[in-house]
Amino acid sequence: MNTMPYRRCGRSGVLLPEISLGLWHNFGAADARERCRALIARALDLGICHLDVADNYGPPPGAAERCLGDLLQREFAARRDELFIATKAGHLMWSGPYGDGGSRKHLIAGLDASLRRLRLDYVDVFYSHRPDPDTPLEETVQALIDIVRSGKALYIGLSKYPPERFRRACALLAEARVPCLVHQFRYNLLDRSAEGGMLPATAQQSVGAMAFSPLAQGVLSGKYLAEALPPDSRAVRSDSPFLTPERARAESARVAAMDAVARAAGIPLAQLALRWLLAQPGICSVLIGARNVSQLDTCAAAAGQAPLSEELLSALSAL
Ligand SMILES: NC(=O)c1ccc[n+]([C@@H]2O[C@H](COP(=O)([O-])OP(=O)(O)OC[C@H]3O[C@@H](n4cnc5c(N)ncnc54)[C@H](OP(=O)(O)O)[C@@H]3O)[C@@H](O)[C@H]2O)c1
Repeated sequence: MNTMPYRRCGRSGVLLPEISLGLWHNFGAADARERCRALIARALDLGICHLDVADNYGPPPGAAERCLGDLLQREFAARRDELFIATKAGHLMWSGPYGDGGSRKHLIAGLDASLRRLRLDYVDVFYSHRPDPDTPLEETVQALIDIVRSGKALYIGLSKYPPERFRRACALLAEARVPCLVHQFRYNLLDRSAEGGMLPATAQQSVGAMAFSPLAQGVLSGKYLAEALPPDSRAVRSDSPFLTPERARAESARVAAMDAVARAAGIPLAQLALRWLLAQPGICSVLIGARNVSQLDTCAAAAGQAPLSEELLSALSAL
């Protein structure tokens, strides 16, 4: 049954689920199609109607969009209007001078290729995936404005922009009456740098704040505290270079202390980490990843819960 609460995204008409599902990992060419199908089906059952992908998600790049496009066409096409689908461009996708960055050439060609892989006429939100200091901001923003005016995206998002560039981009977008809908940034119990920059910046611009990697890629589930590395986990997968075993265990002392707090409260650490994020003022949606339906269920159960006690919040914050 769908009991997912929805939150307003900035000052827009869009409501997003408290928990959204990202396809960065787990939807690559090597991932079993049936498991991907089960994840999307379960997400929809749970009311997780926002799916976040990017052109370079896989591996290899393009594979996650292809997988989602296949599933949408085969099974979920009739539910397109229930879904809020995001994609992005701005990281390396093809060789030569136009395969990367924030130029008009890259963003427009990138979105066209994404739409072909997704087998969609439009996406709900298109992101500039990262700031490109070598391209004039005006050029990137004009491309985003034109993309919305072409009907290929309904809204614009920005990702990983530093606060000042974000503010300038928002001003240019607002001037053209294509306001920035949402900004994505890393935010979790182990990385709170957003509190000193992006979180207040999104509030000031009335833009939706979306926290990605809320479990620090699985570290905040506590599973890397075990002596043996969990088989198939992101830290041991060779196609998943962003979380090495060393990085997965670099914060073990802090994670163990958080796990002790979670155990004392009788809440799984993964859920507590997500509930802590959902309690932070200004967060519109928490963007998780899940390898299987059981992980998805555990994470989704963090939504719609009673607020955590002040005591619990400050115990976590202190760590
Ligand atoms: N804008 C950007 O630049 C950017 C950057 C990064 C991410 N994102 C978005 O944010 C989304 C989420 O990022 P993320 O995948 O790093 O999120 P995350 O939620 O921090 O990590 C997800 C991973 O944690 C593990 N996990 C999840 N639930 C678990 C549970 N209950 N118990 C044990 N392990 C659990 C799984 O990894 P195992 O394989 O180890 O089981 C899962 O794939 C991405 O898919 C993407 O859409 C955006």
